[in-house]
Amino acid sequence: MRSISAAPMATKDIVFRVLKLKRFDAPTFDFPPEKSSMTISSAAGTSVDQLKTRIQQRQARVGIIGLGYVGLPLALLYSEQKFAVTGFDIDARKVDTLAKGGSYIYRIAAEEVQAAKKQGFTATSDYSQLTAMDAIIICVPTPLNEYHEPDLSYITDTTHSIAPYLRAGQLVVLESTTYPGTTEEVMIPILEKENKAGLKAAREQALTGQEFFVAFSPEREDPGNTTVARRDIPKVVGGLNPQASELAGALYGAIFNRTVPVSSPAAAEMTKLLENIYRCVNIALVNELKLLCLRMGIDIWEVIAATKPFGFHPFYPGPGLGGHCIPVDPFYLSWKAKEWDFRTRFIELAGEINTNMPYHVLSSVGSALNRYKKSVNGARVLVLGVAYKKDIDDLRESPSLTIIELLQKDGAQVSYHDPYFPFIGKGRKYNLQMKCAELKDLGQYDCVVIVTDHSDYDYPSIVQQAQLVVDTRNATRGIDSSKIVHC
Ligand SMILES: NC(=O)c1ccc[n+]([C@@H]2O[C@H](COP(=O)([O-])OP(=O)(O)OC[C@H]3O[C@@H](n4cnc5c(N)ncnc54)[C@H](O)[C@@H]3O)[C@@H](O)[C@H]2O)c1
Repeated sequence: MRSISAAPMATKDIVFRVLKLKRFDAPTFDFPPEKSSMTISSAAGTSVDQLKTRIQQRQARVGIIGLGYVGLPLALLYSEQKFAVTGFDIDARKVDTLAKGGSYIYRIAAEEVQAAKKQGFTATSDYSQLTAMDAIIICVPTPLNEYHEPDLSYITDTTHSIAPYLRAGQLVVLESTTYPGTTEEVMIPILEKENKAGLKAAREQALTGQEFFVAFSPEREDPGNTTVARRDIPKVVGGLNPQASELAGALYGAIFNRTVPVSSPAAAEMTKLLENIYRCVNIALVNELKLLCLRMGIDIWEVIAATKPFGFHPFYPGPGLGGHCIPVDPFYLSWKAKEWDFRTRFIELAGEINTNMPYHVLSSVGSALNRYKKSVNGARVLVLGVAYKKDIDDLRESPSLTIIELLQKDGAQVSYHDPYFPFIGKGRKYNLQMKCAELKDLGQYDCVVIVTDHSDYDYPSIVQQAQLVVDTRNATRGIDSSKIVHC
């Protein structure tokens, strides 16, 4: 009942569906139907309807701020659908690469960027071009700071940069994952205070034509998952008022097969966090049970494989959480919850268990070497895979980085191999300056640690060549060898 099809909808359809949602106690829009865009002052009503029409006719200009793993594919999707897209990024190297028709994301071929350029796609660092946009979508990072608190500086910097170029009738959508309240409490006040024309975000009151529209719509892509096309992922949309929801629904309906309206930006912000917290907590659960199973001599992978196909969703243990989302996002909520005098205990417990996993890998390597009367100190160790999950080129928050650092700290001579990373330099939390080793003569290492189970690896050959293999991912399943230590 909660979904709205991609087909463009008349306002009365929106109102009808909203009313239906109310009857089912599903997310509701807190406004009387007679205040929809059909009954507002005619000038403003026209601008909402005009923008909807421009979107439906692919004449709307779409600006996407932040051309990373989320923003660039989104820009290409709009471009495929014949929209004129302008990408904005402060990283001049990215802008240059795109201007030359190149790509800096492994799974995006340069040809896709070139096809988009033919469709009018351009990239720039010049925010003044924002005024020409009809819709502005923000996809900038939302990391944690050194105290594990939300770092909203990318969102606030971006918002300060947008405000001077804002004009009436524009739609601004935030996609970055963040705590409930960010859109209304952080972003909108900056936009309202710093735009030059005294514009206000459109709320419940009748429109005057001096408003801009605001919505939140979380990105829910699953990197590396090739089984679900991006346009098949339902797109959650929470507008600040009905017209904003309507416009954002139309904007995303143009590239996604299904949009899911919720009653507010905060509900949309929370939806994304609920999903990521669910993953984080369930991964922590299997990680903890794996530790118990190892002690009891039970194979957790065998146990998970035997579970029932209903009422149970399998999650898999590993060397620790990685990526921009699962290790980070839950703490956005636990931080915000404190404002409400509330402790999110599941999140904190899950965080504690998952953060401990790289330390478990270190101790497993130590025990495995011990079998051969060797110590971590002085051992030659090859870490296989540094991406945070298999078959992707993303090492943000990867447990491999922590494992490498822990091994080095204990005196190991660490090398790594990853087909996606010829070099690991400096990141926000690491400075490794390591070059990818060749995947040969594996017998030279005292221990090979499989941290990322990339599909391209020939695991039987790795086991055959290595002296000792510590497997954190069950990548060597089916291989019978006393050299393998599961951890
Ligand atoms: N990567 C994923 O799979 C994924 C999935 C779901 C949600 N998200 C969320 O989406 C958001 C973006 O993530 P991402 O993975 O694309 O990040 P990213 O680091 O790959 O890309 C962000 C881009 O924003 C640019 N940027 C930073 N500040 C800017 C500014 N002031 N103006 C213009 N550009 C600026 C950066 O240069 C970078 O190119 C985050 O909130 C993340 O949590 C990411």
